Amino acid sequence: KKVGVLISGRGSNMEALIEASNRPDCPYEITLVFSNIEDAQGLKIAEEAGIKTAFLDHRGHGGRAAYDQKVLAILQEAKLDIVVLAGYMRIVTPEFVSAWEGRMLNIHPALLPSFTGLDTHKRALESGVRWHGCTVHFVTSELDAGPIITQAAVPVYEDDTEDSLAKRVLKEEHRIYAEALEDLAADRLILKDNRVFHKKG
Ligand code: GRF
Repeated sequence: KKVGVLISGRGSNMEALIEASNRPDCPYEITLVFSNIEDAQGLKIAEEAGIKTAFLDHRGHGGRAAYDQKVLAILQEAKLDIVVLAGYMRIVTPEFVSAWEGRMLNIHPALLPSFTGLDTHKRALESGVRWHGCTVHFVTSELDAGPIITQAAVPVYEDDTEDSLAKRVLKEEHRIYAEALEDLAADRLILKDNRVFHKKG
């Protein structure tokens, strides 16, 4: 399956997905990396890995709908099967979401439905939860609320800072994102009544 990854920054999740795709028998290949930020570190990583990249500034298109339509055209042109959001710091329009329904994933750095939105590590520390983590989910038009595919939990330690906690979570993000994408690409996921089930066997 052909996968496009949308990023806005560092691109460490994207890099983990590229690494996983280099393993034999991986059911997907990353054929496009798109960014709305021109100097996103992830674009350089993708170029060095020999992957086609595209960039379109989100400013100056006369609104979110017009911009998303242009991004959609870029993705359609690339004939992708699956779109993966990996630190893509944009809220996408309902039209964008419905074009990729059941074929667009996101990773969120918290155990959803807790801590949707931004600053998840800070809020987890402040709230006193003992476990924090990350979630891979299908993208729906409601922010961070699509059907959950998989999650990983990490403990919160007494001396944790936002950075130390983020680092522990990020390591798990890299692992579960590649797993979830492989499951989707290999048709091992069933989306039914807004819930995700894993095929047996
Ligand atoms: C990750 O923590 C991801 O969960 C969040 O944004 C961060 C992106 O990091 N949505 P990277 O660009 O993949 O390194």
